Amino acid sequence: MRSLYRTVVVKRELSRKAKLSIYRDLSYIKIIDVGQRYLVNRVLDHIQSRIVYYLMNIHITPRSIYLCRHGESELNVKGCIGGDSGLTVRGKEFAKKLSHFIQAQGISDLKVWTSQMKRTIQTAEALNVPYEQWKVLNEIDAGVCEELMYEEIQENYPLEFALRDQDKYRYRYPKGESYEDLVQRLEPVIMELERQENVLVVCHQAVLRCLLAYFLDKPAEELPYLKCPLHTVLKLTPVAYGCKVESISLNVEAVDTHREKPENVDVWRLSEEALLTVPAHQ
Ligand code: F6P
Repeated sequence: MRSLYRTVVVKRELSRKAKLSIYRDLSYIKIIDVGQRYLVNRVLDHIQSRIVYYLMNIHITPRSIYLCRHGESELNVKGCIGGDSGLTVRGKEFAKKLSHFIQAQGISDLKVWTSQMKRTIQTAEALNVPYEQWKVLNEIDAGVCEELMYEEIQENYPLEFALRDQDKYRYRYPKGESYEDLVQRLEPVIMELERQENVLVVCHQAVLRCLLAYFLDKPAEELPYLKCPLHTVLKLTPVAYGCKVESISLNVEAVDTHREKPENVDVWRLSEEALLTVPAHQ
């Protein structure tokens, strides 16, 4: 009986040791008590260390992330992309209304982030609160197409215009960026947004699409066509397995800058077909 008992104990001990040695060889992070403690084992490469960093920075404290674009800019009304112009009268009106909206939300510890472009800084100035400028929040760099209207891009670079329509997520402007580049550029902002609590991000159309796609888990193909109108605040509130989105228009008129994907994306298409979805402007 005693020897049988000893055999059982020895077998148990062996299997416990075997299990422990398996676990020792595995790469894992154990999160204890919703992030009160962590056990990190065998982090072997860059990706794994990024995952550990990410998991150690997310939290479940209730909070909201407010995302909006700058107020309408001088180049927006002319139908030009990029550049670094200031706000129109309507853009300044939006900035004032944004200030009232934020005050009405009654958040004591709100962080405000902008890009380093005039139009987002002017928008945040109206809030009369401290704000932080992030270069990585600057709008997509349209390279040789900066400050051109979509019509001028079609006229001067028809091939580029069609190639962008064929694969808007991966298309990179000559001497500029693609949405794919932008997603990579925004990684530090996304990481910091995960760490923070209440934040208002005043940014740009393409940047806002990337942030929204991250929080709403949208696929790459949909991302460059997400609707992010001017003078509208998107309030994201994390809930179990996702985010609740509220789209709040601050009721200040603005030009539409959203160009849908046209039906014909062939490089030999007619100019009229390429321009069918260009929104109206001055
Ligand atoms: O038109 C405003 C703007 O923010 C431009 O500066 C930018 O190039 C563009 O939107 C991005 O939108 P899309 O990728 O749809 O051209």
